[in-house]
Amino acid sequence: MSTKKDDSRGNGAAAHRDGSGPAGVGDVSRRRLLGSAGAAGAAGLVLGAAGGAGVYAATRSEVPTPLTAVGSTEAMFHGKHQAGITTPLQARGHLIAFDLAPGAGRKEAAALMRRWSDVAGRLMAGEPADTVQGHDTGVALDAGPSSLTVTFGFGRTFFTRTGLTGHRPPALDPLPVFSSDHLDARRSDGDLWVQIGADDALVAFHALRALQKEAGSAARVRWQMNGFNRTPGATGRPMTTRNLMGQVDGTNNPKPGESDFEKRIFVPAGGSSAHAWMAGGSYAVVRRIRMLLDDWEELTVKRQEQVIGRRKADGAPLSGGSEDTSMDLDKAGPDGKLLIPGNAHARISSPEENGGAAMLRRPFSYHDGISEDGTPDAGLLFICWQADPFKGFIPVQRKLDRGDALSPFIRHEASGLFAVPGGAASGEYVGQRLLEA
Ligand code: HEM
Repeated sequence: MSTKKDDSRGNGAAAHRDGSGPAGVGDVSRRRLLGSAGAAGAAGLVLGAAGGAGVYAATRSEVPTPLTAVGSTEAMFHGKHQAGITTPLQARGHLIAFDLAPGAGRKEAAALMRRWSDVAGRLMAGEPADTVQGHDTGVALDAGPSSLTVTFGFGRTFFTRTGLTGHRPPALDPLPVFSSDHLDARRSDGDLWVQIGADDALVAFHALRALQKEAGSAARVRWQMNGFNRTPGATGRPMTTRNLMGQVDGTNNPKPGESDFEKRIFVPAGGSSAHAWMAGGSYAVVRRIRMLLDDWEELTVKRQEQVIGRRKADGAPLSGGSEDTSMDLDKAGPDGKLLIPGNAHARISSPEENGGAAMLRRPFSYHDGISEDGTPDAGLLFICWQADPFKGFIPVQRKLDRGDALSPFIRHEASGLFAVPGGAASGEYVGQRLLEA
C-alpha cells in the first residue's frame, strides 16, 4: 500500500476491504479478487505492475490473484463526513450537476438521494452498480474500487424546488460577483452536484454513467466537467501534485492532523435546528478556471516563481527552505525588496493576509481540447472545502480579485456553491436529515 494512502487515514480516508462484507450480485471472479486484495493490503503488500496481468489470468482460471494497491484501495461510503473531501486526490474526476426535472419535488428528490446513495455505496465497495445480474454496464469489471468516491451536494435552487427554503443555510447565499469573472451560466450552479473521483478512468466513468442513469426522470444533467491528477505511482515518491502551469499546488492546505482542521473544514453540530442537517457537512466552491497557458509559458521560470511566491522545481517559498518551510512574508533580499513579492499569489491568498480565512483546496486539472482561437481549453477545476464560505473562499477571492499577480494568466469561466451534507450513517441515505426533516 502506498504511503500516500496511509497518510490519508481518518475521515473519509481510503482503506482496504477485507472481503468479508456482503457481496453484491455480480461476477464471482471479481469478488474473489477483491477478497484476496484485502489480504494483500492487510499484509502491507504492494504488488506493482504484476497485478494487471494477474487480474486477467485470474479471471480466466478463477485463481484469486491480488489486485495492486491502486485497484484494491477502498474509501468508505458511510461515516461522519462524506468521502471525497479529505480523501487523497484521485487520478480521475467527474463533476456533474443536475437540475430536478419539471414537476419533481421533495418526494422525488428523497427517492433519488436514496437510490444514488445505494448505488454509490455499492460502487465504492467495488461491487456492481445494479443488483440485478446483467444490468451493470460492465465498464468496471476486472477492477477493484480504485479509491472511488462519490460526493453529493445541494445547490441554492434545490431548496426552492423542494419547498425547503426554511432549511437553507445563509452560507448558501449567492457568491459575490468578482470583477475578473467571465462566468457561463449554463455551466454554473445546479440543484444537485455530484463529485466522482477514482484512481482508474474506467471505474470513474462507470460511476458517472450509473448515477446518470439512476437519475431517471427525476433529474436532468445541467453540466458536466472531467478532470485528472497525477496517477499514483507515477512519481518516485508520494508528493504534492502539479497543476497544468507546472507548479507544485496544494502545499499550504490545512492538514487533517492540525487542531483547527475540523473547525475550518466541517460544519459543527449544535447550530440552529433548521440547519442541523448540515452537521458534519462542508461547503464546496467549484470554479472552472481556464489557464491562459500560451501567455504563462512565455514567462521565464524566475518570473513564474515571482507570480506565485514559490519555487517551481520543488514548491519551496522564495523566502527560503524547502516545500514544508513556512513562508517568511517579511524577509527582504539584499536589494531591500520582499523575497515573496507583495502581489504574489501565495502571499495574498494566505490566512495571515486574510484574517485567518482558510479552505481545503482539492482540485482536478482539465483539458477540453483546443478552442477556436487555437489556444488550449485547459486549466483547473478548482474545488475548495470549508465550514463557511464567508470565512474561506469569499474573502480570499475578493482579495485575489483586487491584485493577484496570477490574474492575467487565468480566467474564471464557471462557478458553483454547494452544501455537502455530512456522511450517511449505515442504513441512511445522504441528505436524509434534510429531506425527512
Ligand atoms: C488556476 C488558478 C490557480 C492556480 C494555478 C493556483 C496555484 C496556487 C499555487 C501554486 C499555490 C502555492 C502552493 C500551495 O500552497 O498550494 C497556491 C496557493 C494557494 N491558493 Fe491558489 N491557485 C489558483 C486559484 C486559487 C483560488 C481561486 C483561490 C481561492 C480563492 C486560491 C487559494 C489559494 C490558497 C488559500 C493558497 C495557500 C496560500 C498559503 O497559505 O500559503 N487559489 N495556489
